[in-house]
Amino acid sequence: MTDQTDINSEDLRIRPVDSSHIADLIRIADETNLSAWTAQNYLDEFQMPGSIMLRLESALNVTIGFVVGRIVEGGVVESEQQAEIYNIAIDKSEQGKGFGQLLFDAFIEKCNEQNVTSVWLEVRESNEKAIGFYKSNGFEHVQSRNNFYDNPREAALLMKLVLK
Ligand SMILES: CC(C)(COP(=O)(O)OP(=O)(O)OC[C@H]1O[C@@H](n2cnc3c(N)ncnc32)[C@H](O)[C@@H]1OP(=O)(O)O)[C@@H](O)C(=O)NCCC(=O)NCCS
Repeated sequence: MTDQTDINSEDLRIRPVDSSHIADLIRIADETNLSAWTAQNYLDEFQMPGSIMLRLESALNVTIGFVVGRIVEGGVVESEQQAEIYNIAIDKSEQGKGFGQLLFDAFIEKCNEQNVTSVWLEVRESNEKAIGFYKSNGFEHVQSRNNFYDNPREAALLMKLVLK
């Protein structure tokens, strides 16, 4: 949890994640029951071509949230690319204040700069909050994947956003 009150969106900045922030990402992922990435998973992701790792920070450099995703080769046409969101999370005490939207918009801006045509993600079928967030951002549920997650075992919804 952050120890700050009344954080305004004007006080926030979006910056690339670097290795000094990994502990913050693990803390927020843990708090919000995201699929657990190890520090090594994040370090490996830095090396991946097309990786997008953004962090929302307060004026006091406190991490408020993060998004991790990647632009992947996928389209039949060379100029068409797909992106995937692996994790997006806002500190539990700061959710519902529009901060997730700031991060999501920054991720989409990066996608648009790279001619991404669709964004894909998986989400636990019980995660109504995230599903509501994604649907309000134009994602559609295209498929379900049974037994996709462990602890607890659960299906994933595969969701897709068409950008162009
Ligand atoms: C999902 C998450 C990133 C959204 O971030 P947030 O800061 O809480 O969301 P915002 O306040 O920016 O909401 C943006 C919009 O999403 C939609 N939204 C947000 N929460 C919603 C909910 N519970 N139900 C339906 N729509 C919702 C609304 O349209 C909202 O806009 P509005 O406030 O103008 O109505 C955040 O709740 C979170 O970290 N959840 C835990 C981690 C997680 O489950 N991540 C997804 C893993 S796949």
